[in-house]
Amino acid sequence: MTRKPFIAGNWKMNTSLEEAPALAGAMVEKVGSVEGVDLAVCPPFPYLASVGKALAGSKIALGAQDIFYENNGAYTGEISAAMLKDVGCAYVICGHSERRHVIGETDEMINRKVLKCVGDGLKPILCVGELLTERQADETIEVVSRQIHLGLEGVSSADLTDVTIAYEPVWAIGTGVTATPDQAQEVHAMIRRLLGEIYDDATARNVRIQYGGSVKPDNAGELLTQPDIDGALIGGASLKADDFAKIISAANNANNANKR
Ligand code: 13P
Repeated sequence: MTRKPFIAGNWKMNTSLEEAPALAGAMVEKVGSVEGVDLAVCPPFPYLASVGKALAGSKIALGAQDIFYENNGAYTGEISAAMLKDVGCAYVICGHSERRHVIGETDEMINRKVLKCVGDGLKPILCVGELLTERQADETIEVVSRQIHLGLEGVSSADLTDVTIAYEPVWAIGTGVTATPDQAQEVHAMIRRLLGEIYDDATARNVRIQYGGSVKPDNAGELLTQPDIDGALIGGASLKADDFAKIISAANNANNANKR
């Protein structure tokens, strides 16, 4: 049994009408036919359609940075599953730490988003991770366990096959400070054990768990060769096609080394 590595770029609130499809086009040129790694990019909402066009026919899938859990109606500013599917999205980031801690999303809202995705044929990337103060207080396991339990409530083991978990320690996001491979592996292994308890071991072994937080070309290799790290969710380095391609190549090498 192998888990195919999955590398996704989260462009956050960056790029412009001109830059977004150009960046996607540069990525298609560099990595658009890679076979050994699943790939996605998640541009801002207004550029989903143009980035989708630039990705057409390539192996790079389109993802959204968020979703709303209602179908339609009076929800000013929100975006539905049907809208995301209309523009060709396959993946949706749910519960990113910036949405939890800057916007104020709760575990309950995030769970509704995850359920909406799996119910409507979209693949959620459920983000979890502790704050620096929580790590310092030795609460990492407790915080991440709670986020996993609440985020996946009501998700069946059949639906879990469409779910990716992204472990993103908040203190490592955009800071240049990466979790060491050991620190990351420890939490990834804990998440997999927990999934084994909530579901069963076979189901848990199939779930891809990405690491996110200051992943760069020079640290990707040692992170991605850890046994329970199955890919990465990349912020800053996904805004440079060259860096993104180098990280994908590191994932490909880790996979070829047949670590699992
Ligand atoms: P950075 O790679 O910029 O640290 O961002 C990580 C992240 O939040 C991806 O979702």
